[in-house]
Amino acid sequence: MNKTSMILDVDTGVDDAFAVLFAAMHPAISLLGVTCVDGNTNVDQVVANTLKVLDAAGAVDIPVARGAVRPLLGESKYAEYVHGADGMGDLGIPPSKRVIDKRSAVELMRDLIESSSEPVTLVPLAPLTNVALFLRAFPETAKKLHRIILMGGSTSAGNATAAAEFNIWHDPEAAAIVFQSGVPITMYGLDVFMRPGVTREEAESLKRSTEPSAQFGGSLIHAFIERLGVSPITLGDYGAVATAIHPEFFTTEMFDVVVDTSSGPARGQTICDRRDSFLKELEPLDLEDSAKVRVVMDLDVEAVRQLWLRTIDKGWS
Ligand code: RIB
Ligand code: CA
Repeated sequence: MNKTSMILDVDTGVDDAFAVLFAAMHPAISLLGVTCVDGNTNVDQVVANTLKVLDAAGAVDIPVARGAVRPLLGESKYAEYVHGADGMGDLGIPPSKRVIDKRSAVELMRDLIESSSEPVTLVPLAPLTNVALFLRAFPETAKKLHRIILMGGSTSAGNATAAAEFNIWHDPEAAAIVFQSGVPITMYGLDVFMRPGVTREEAESLKRSTEPSAQFGGSLIHAFIERLGVSPITLGDYGAVATAIHPEFFTTEMFDVVVDTSSGPARGQTICDRRDSFLKELEPLDLEDSAKVRVVMDLDVEAVRQLWLRTIDKGWS
């Protein structure tokens, strides 16, 4: 089987945990490393949460590195109302005994890309601060990146604000640097983010499994459902990882995209130009600041759901 060599950049976060669990366990993914960034919660809590998830996946050899402690400009803005005070549903999961890599996030990114004999897919599931710093610190290595598949943005409404999705809104300047980098980008945004979900009943079934990864995933989903009071609950970030190995489950379109870095009400919006070409003549997007981005617009929800369930619980049926 051809494996996809992958680096995840995360702000674990309950839905980042769904993605890390999946990427560490799926046989078509070679998870080279996981870098952590300030986002849903503070970066040290993100590191602690990420180690716990990799322990649950039995993936204790995958390096984890600590990255940016705040956005490039401005202050941190946490999403504990969604993910809990500890960022992982306040389940009280015991800390991992593992230590993190001594390298910083951007150094680990550089070393993994430089040492890989295969093209590397970078999958940011968080604010893009680490990725922007990596692009600025190691531009020659960045040229070797195969592609970036990021969870972020939206062609329509936001979630953090009326206009902006959380990962972009948290650090718009970093997002602008990434979108303008020239690295091929797939944007897995709010147009599809909420759709692949898991029900309370499915969570209970996972919790009854004999597999630690399934019990862990089921407990997280249960906590997420209890906190937000909705079922099914979205698998969120995981969907971006799935596009890397099953593109056939997803429908994409190419759009010119620019990130709004103003200080107005649209700050952090990913403005996607969906106009017909003749209309674009009137006032084209400023091509200096925009990029051609592959945007995920639709998906086979059941296929994407089953892929996750069957990966974290081998006995799932
Ligand atoms: O807007 C959703 C994104 O924000 C997800 O990555 C979630 O984990 C939070 O970071
Ligand atoms: Ca995230």
